[in-house]
Amino acid sequence: MKKTGAIIWLPLTVFFFISTAFISFQSSHNNNLVPEEGFAIPDDVNQILETSCFGCHNVESSSDKAKKKLLIDQLSELSKAKLVGKLGDIGEVIEENEMPPEKFLAKYPDKALTSDEAKRLKDWAEEAVNELIK
Ligand code: HEC
Repeated sequence: MKKTGAIIWLPLTVFFFISTAFISFQSSHNNNLVPEEGFAIPDDVNQILETSCFGCHNVESSSDKAKKKLLIDQLSELSKAKLVGKLGDIGEVIEENEMPPEKFLAKYPDKALTSDEAKRLKDWAEEAVNELIK
């Protein structure tokens, strides 16, 4: 009787461990899903970001608040889901005319987005999201 128990439980236990390990591997893998082709920002968009946004939203920035919200130089490190979120945020702040901040523009008026630049950024953010979720 004892022996039969071991014959049944041992394989079951092994099976249980293997499937748990497999499932957790699968889900951690999916959570970290980075875009397969990598995430590249087109040159013209990069130039606009560089002029009007990058100064505050990069890892070396002195603005902790800005860094917490968006790191343009780290976008390609994000999971797909987070990237979609950040691109959505970018579209939103452009739409609402919230970025660059007014105070900053008062000091550096030449860093304001022209309406063409704002449109390009918004279109790019939208297209990039569509590309990521298709
Ligand atoms: C002078 C520094 C500065 C510049 C330039 C700047 N930002 Fe920001 N940005 C900030 C700060 C500070 C915050 C955080 C605001 C807060 O927490 O209320 C922020 C927040 C954000 C957020 C998060 C908004 C939210 O509510 O989650 C996004 C997205 C963003 N900025 C995008 C941009 C884009 C795009 C540009 C260029 C067009 C830009 N920023 C230019 C300082 C800057």
